[in-house]
Amino acid sequence: MSGEGIYEPKISGDTILFAKNLKVYFPVRRSLIDALRGKPQLYVKAVDGVSFDVMKGEVFALAGESGCGKTTTGKTILRLNKPTEGQIGYLPSKEVVEELGDVERISEYGHINVTSIDERHLRPLRKDVQMIWQDPFGSLNPRRTIYEILEEPLAIHGVGVSREDRYDIVAKALESVKLTPPDEYMDRYPHMLSGGQRQRVVIARALILNPKFVVADEPVSMLDVSIRAEILQLMMELKNKLGLTYLFITHDLAVARYISNRLAVMYLGQIVELGDARRVIENPLHPYTRALVEAIPEPEPSRRLTIREVPIKGEVPSPINVPSGCRFHPRCVALDEKPELKEYCMRKEPPMVEVEPGHFVKCWLYAKR
Ligand SMILES: Nc1ncnc2c1ncn2[C@@H]1O[C@H](COP(=O)(O)OP(=O)(O)OP(=O)(O)O)[C@@H](O)[C@H]1O
Ligand code: SF4
Ligand SMILES: [Mg+2]
Repeated sequence: MSGEGIYEPKISGDTILFAKNLKVYFPVRRSLIDALRGKPQLYVKAVDGVSFDVMKGEVFALAGESGCGKTTTGKTILRLNKPTEGQIGYLPSKEVVEELGDVERISEYGHINVTSIDERHLRPLRKDVQMIWQDPFGSLNPRRTIYEILEEPLAIHGVGVSREDRYDIVAKALESVKLTPPDEYMDRYPHMLSGGQRQRVVIARALILNPKFVVADEPVSMLDVSIRAEILQLMMELKNKLGLTYLFITHDLAVARYISNRLAVMYLGQIVELGDARRVIENPLHPYTRALVEAIPEPEPSRRLTIREVPIKGEVPSPINVPSGCRFHPRCVALDEKPELKEYCMRKEPPMVEVEPGHFVKCWLYAKR
């Protein structure tokens, strides 16, 4: 197989979001002495040239080992991180277009560039784009009641003119995540709920402003295995009912297979494989994805391995000193079979090529040398 088409995000009226060569570097703290001695500034290259597109209504999964840059990518979409380089195009909904006013458009379809909009445009953006966090306990203020937690975004965004209006909106939000009757939950504090109930509140809060695009960062990984399926099912029901699009971050390929249409596998700040989720998992092409997939045992949930426990040789290198060429080369078992590739893989970064329709891989096994 030899792929020729190089990956470019698809930009159309159906593309709700795209990333183009996105880079997010964090400066490593230097001591004053090091700075005075002229030691160069080092950077954690958390996201290092990521491109993808998400179609309206789909679930697009980002998977990969701990530290590969999934959360950083997700947070940058909400501009909770300022990117170093690249673009994030977002197609705003009719509801927020007016509030965004004359923001520069970067496509003929009306995408705005999230990476460069003014601070004042973040408010309307956050009505449309919300995040569901991983840790339901850490992301809910323990000193506030569930009512106060859910009312806060309404107050910030001026939704609901009277207190009665807001009460109704909060009650509906609780009903939508099946915390019923809502009155029973409003006066409780987060610690008075179970883990699953807390995550329902987190979901209700993310959806209360009627967003269109939701970044869900490992929304079930902290929950008991027994309630994960319930929460995933609820998320899918809400997606279909409310016409949402999800960017779903997970380290669990079994979850990605269950929930997503398309899947991007990240390694050390880059996407190394992208395509139809089932296809990528059933026919993984990149040596890294192959290793991840091999680590999923037959469906026996209690024994299911997650990516965090994957047995790939060696350690993930530091994102401060990324290996040259293909950054997976120090761990790549494909090189044991094809040692003649090694020199090449060590020196040159592979392009992301299309190996079968819509299935892209960043590896010299598939690209023209
Ligand atoms: N604010 C920050 N300052 C410095 N380094 C950061 C910051 N945020 C993330 N990093 C680093 O960037 C890299 C990517 O982190 P990120 O949280 O995006 O990974 P992740 O894929 O979400 O991992 P996990 O599966 O553990 O959640 C890591 O090396 C992390 O230590
Ligand atoms: S480019 Fe080379 S080192 Fe990288 S994954 Fe492919 S074969 Fe392995
Ligand atoms: Mg993370």
